[in-house]
Amino acid sequence: RQILLVNGPNLNLLGTREPEIYGTSTLADVEALTSRTASEFGLTVGAVQSNHEGVLIDAIHAAREDCAAIIINPGGLTHTSVVLRDALSGVSLPVAEVHLSNVHAREPFRQHSYVSPVAAFVIAGCGVQGYDFAVRRIAALLAA
Ligand code: DQA
Repeated sequence: RQILLVNGPNLNLLGTREPEIYGTSTLADVEALTSRTASEFGLTVGAVQSNHEGVLIDAIHAAREDCAAIIINPGGLTHTSVVLRDALSGVSLPVAEVHLSNVHAREPFRQHSYVSPVAAFVIAGCGVQGYDFAVRRIAALLAA
């Protein structure tokens, strides 16, 4: 079974973008780590990153066909996007919301998420390891 891994706007810059907040791992590292953990559970990963909301929504809709769960770091869309949330709730797959940074310890505008109410769980502040944790929890949910 396949997990859709979605990374939102600006996460293509991982590794060079505010490394004191987001670390030095690249998006390629994140995608490789996620796939490696998934393979421990016999799961595969399809990865998409886009700076365009509509591209993310199309990928989420397509996941209905071939995915069992979604891991998403929506980036700044976390705090702004009703349409992204509606796409996630519309496909009724388990959703893991991941943030590299501890959004609750940052600016007030990062402390509200449109996505969290439709997520099965939320991981924040664990850096890239959060994606590893998310896969492990998804595997447990799928096995239950
Ligand atoms: C982020 C946190 C968001 O507030 C921010 O806009 C991002 C990255 C994180 O992974 O910590 O782009 O989702």
